[in-house]
Amino acid sequence: MEKLHQHGIVLATQVNTRTDAMQVARDGVDLIVVQGTEAGGHVTGQVSTLPLLQAVLDTVQVPVLVAGGIASPRGVAAALAAGAEGVWVGTALLASPECENAEQARARIVQAGETDTILTRAFDVAQGLAWPAQYPGRALRNRFTDQWHSQIDALPQANEARQQLAEAIASKNYDLAYIYAGEAVGLVTRQQSAADVIQHLGDGAERLLRDRFAMLLEGHEALLEE
Ligand SMILES: Cc1cc2nc3c(=O)[nH]c(=O)nc-3n(C[C@H](O)[C@H](O)[C@H](O)COP(=O)(O)O)c2cc1C
Repeated sequence: MEKLHQHGIVLATQVNTRTDAMQVARDGVDLIVVQGTEAGGHVTGQVSTLPLLQAVLDTVQVPVLVAGGIASPRGVAAALAAGAEGVWVGTALLASPECENAEQARARIVQAGETDTILTRAFDVAQGLAWPAQYPGRALRNRFTDQWHSQIDALPQANEARQQLAEAIASKNYDLAYIYAGEAVGLVTRQQSAADVIQHLGDGAERLLRDRFAMLLEGHEALLEE
């Protein structure tokens, strides 16, 4: 870290526990990304975004970004109001044309609701990928997870199922193949360019912060005057 800082390189790291946030703050990281278990893709730890964010903001002095479950202006406004410097989104962009998803995958993302994801090792184990056991991935539930999530230990020997998964990935058959996505997938309801998604998040959050704060604080002052 010292060497990188000497060369003017800014360091950010994603953490999933308060302990790790304290460790990287001590190590001198410049920016911490707090990632809760709602997030899409591979994720570790057991704590959701909001409790983890509060714990980390109370504990470290390093600038914090929030990741996991944010895909609308309300989430951005909440994160900023809590004291985060910004948000870090993945799932919000999954239906954007800039994302390398197939059209069939984008259609599923747009249709999926917030209860349609699962945190599972099934896809990694079936593909023989070396993700550590404490790093499952959050993906859309499908026929493959319905069958194999509860029988992970049997997967390494299930050659037929593994072969079927490989073929499904190649042919973009998402009844079996994976689409990694977070719980915020329920908020992704149309295909929009990445620029439009980001613009909407920023503009909407700004409006919410202005209106809500004005209303809440004016209401509070009116009460004090009574
Ligand atoms: C499809 C997908 C792939 C991801 N791949 C990575 C990755 O390679 N490395 C990483 O640090 N985070 C990865 N993430 C996690 C993001 O960095 C981020 O923490 C997460 O998307 C935020 O939560 P959200 O999905 O609810 O927006 C991935 C997320 C998704 C949805």
